[in-house]
Amino acid sequence: MHPTAREDTKDHTADTTDTAGACGAPGADTLTGRLEQLPLSAPVDALARADALDSVTGPLRDAVHALPLGTVRDLLRGRWLGHPLHPLLVQVPMGAWLSAGVLDLLPGTERAGRVLVGTGVLAALPAALAGWTDWADTRPEQQRTGVVHAAANSLAVGLYAASFVARLRGRRWRGRALGYAGMTAASVGGMIGGHLAYRQAVGVNKAEPVPHVVPEGWHRLGSVSDFPVGEPSRFLLGEVPLLVVREPDEAGGRVRVLADRCSHQSGALSGGRVADGCVTCPLHGSVFRLADGANVGGPATAPQPVFETRTADDGGLEVRLP
Ligand code: FES
Repeated sequence: MHPTAREDTKDHTADTTDTAGACGAPGADTLTGRLEQLPLSAPVDALARADALDSVTGPLRDAVHALPLGTVRDLLRGRWLGHPLHPLLVQVPMGAWLSAGVLDLLPGTERAGRVLVGTGVLAALPAALAGWTDWADTRPEQQRTGVVHAAANSLAVGLYAASFVARLRGRRWRGRALGYAGMTAASVGGMIGGHLAYRQAVGVNKAEPVPHVVPEGWHRLGSVSDFPVGEPSRFLLGEVPLLVVREPDEAGGRVRVLADRCSHQSGALSGGRVADGCVTCPLHGSVFRLADGANVGGPATAPQPVFETRTADDGGLEVRLP
C-alpha cells in the first residue's frame, strides 16, 4: 500500500531529523570542528547587511568617484594586468611590516626594523588608493564590508606611522608595541579583505564560468531577422544569457554575440548602450568591444566571452564559443 501524501511528508521530516547530526555537524574533537565553532564568519557576514553604514559609504563613494585621477584610475584598477592591482600592491606593506615584526624579536635590528616600518607606511598609500577605486564600483553590500576593511587597514597605517615616529625618537619598546598593534589591525583588515574577495566575489571575473556551462558546438538562436538592427537584445542559451547585436548593413551587417553578464559585477550588457562597435555596461560603465569582447574602459579587468556567429542557409543565426 502506498502512503498518503501526508504520511510521506511526515516520514521525510523524520528522516531529516535523524540524519541532521551526520551532515555537516562540526566535530568538537577535531581541529576543523573547533575552528568552525569560532565566531569568525558570522560577524563579517553581518557587515553586508549593516545598512547603517550606507550613511558613510554613499558620501565616500561619491568622493572617490570625484577624485581627479584621470588615467591613473585605470592603472590602479588593473585592467592592464587582467585582474585588480590592489591585492598585488598590498603585498609590499604587509611583507615589510611582517618582516619588521620578526626583526623586532631579534637584538641589534633597530635600524632595519625602522626602515621596514617606514617602507610599509609609504607602500600602503598606493595600495589603499587602488582599493578605494575598486571599492567605489561595487555593490552596496560589498561597500559596507569594504568600508570596515578600509577602516581596519587605516588604523593599521596610523599605528605603524606612530611606530615609525617612536622608533625615530629612539623609543624602541614603544615603537615595537605600536608595530604589533598595527599588525593586529592589519590582520583583521586582511581577514575582512579575504571575505570580500572570496565570499563576496569582489574583483572576481563574473564571466569566467561561461565556457564551462555552454555546450560545445553550434547553437541556433533563431532567425537573424528576429534581432533588431543596432540595438542590444538578450537571448537565453540554456542557462547562459547572451547579448546579441546585429550591425547595420553599412557597418558590415554582422551579428555580434557576447556573454550578457558583465565580467565586472554581472550587470546585463543587453540593458546597456551600443555605439561605435562597443557596448557600455549600465551598472558601472565598463566598455566592451563587440568584435572580440575586449574590455576597453571602466572598472572591468577581464574581457567578455565572445561567440563566433554564422548564418545558416535558411537565415538562422548560429553561435558557438571559439
Ligand atoms: S557590472 Fe560593473 S561595469 Fe558592468
